[in-house]
Amino acid sequence: MTPSASLKRIALIPGDGIGSEVTQEARKVLESLATKGSLPLETTTFDWGAEKFLREGVTLPEGALDMLRSEFDAIFIGALGDPRVPSNRHAADILLGIRFGLDLYVNQRPVKLLDARFCPLKNRGERDVNFVVFRENTEGNYVGLGGNFKKGTADEVAIQEDLNTRKGVERILVYAFEHAQRHRLTRICMADKSNALPYGHGLWRRTFEDVRARYPEIEARHVYADTVAMEMVRDPAQFQVIVTSNMLGDILSDLGAALLGGLGLSPSANIHPGKISMFEPVHGSAPAIAGKQVANPMAALLTAGMMIEHLGFPKEAGRIEELVKEALANDRVTPDLGGTLRTREVGDWICGRL
Ligand code: NAD
Ligand code: IPM
Ligand code: MN
Repeated sequence: MTPSASLKRIALIPGDGIGSEVTQEARKVLESLATKGSLPLETTTFDWGAEKFLREGVTLPEGALDMLRSEFDAIFIGALGDPRVPSNRHAADILLGIRFGLDLYVNQRPVKLLDARFCPLKNRGERDVNFVVFRENTEGNYVGLGGNFKKGTADEVAIQEDLNTRKGVERILVYAFEHAQRHRLTRICMADKSNALPYGHGLWRRTFEDVRARYPEIEARHVYADTVAMEMVRDPAQFQVIVTSNMLGDILSDLGAALLGGLGLSPSANIHPGKISMFEPVHGSAPAIAGKQVANPMAALLTAGMMIEHLGFPKEAGRIEELVKEALANDRVTPDLGGTLRTREVGDWICGRL
């Protein structure tokens, strides 16, 4: 940190279920770094989520996006989703509302194995599982275009459109290539289903051909997404960067999380370069284990690391990753990884080492 580093204002949205438990640990670690003077940061918590929705009928409050844009440097979100809101309307409004509203078109989901003992694949180590998934985050079949006709009858029709724009596809592809170039990576794989979706994913294929031509030094190939899923398990070492559409990226990133030891270890970032960005663990609110202090907070801690790295503090981010690795190596882990520690005990252990 340079003495002149300006204060970073973080909006925390703990959300539902285990979201609030893991966010609490992320907050502890961030505040611990702040107290030690190595991170000029201040957090403000927002109670947006199922409770508020059920109580007040409010999902994303009016003016929220402008407020986030003007008063904060980054957003950290735990998870949203509650069985008492079967439509998941509040999660769509809040989570997708922020992704779309702030145009956070890059969903960066690193798949970096931190401890080989937790990888479910035979004979694979940290060197074999280390790639990043870039998921398009503002288009595809997530945009909510569609409807039902004769809903609830035997003749019901449901339409869910898959929206792909040249601009939207191109910008995520360019981001992935630029990332590869910046990090001296040499291989990119685009995952699509153009064999079944010739219009939408045909656009992905054609745009990919155009963009790859601008980066001749990068080995770029397209692979159908079902094959990518299979190859991620068979030989993950072949991947450095995977770039793909919104829903395929959602699915492949959960598979990626499994290679690390589970969703409790998988961080992510929702980015619009140069503008406010949002950081969230890949996992959801896990209602079945919520409120029991058994959720693994490591994904949230690594997510906090991605956030502070993005804000210009790579050393502090590296420290968080090191300490998560140390906790894994010393079996200071929650039950999902075979341990007995509670959520807050993992956070305490890591804060204690900072
Ligand atoms: P989930 O990620 O909540 O849980 C999937 C499985 O992984 C469950 O067995 C759960 O117990 C386990 N798990 C997840 N995170 C864990 C952690 N940190 N520690 C230990 N175990 C963990 O996915 P789901 O069950 O499909 O979804 C539950 C709700 O969360 C749904 O409403 C869904 O829409 C929502 N969701 C939200 C987000 C988000 O807000 N970013 C992401 C995914 C799912
Ligand atoms: C994720 C989640 C969300 C998504 C859900 C909750 C809408 O699964 O962040 O991975 O599909 O993007
Ligand atoms: Mn998901």
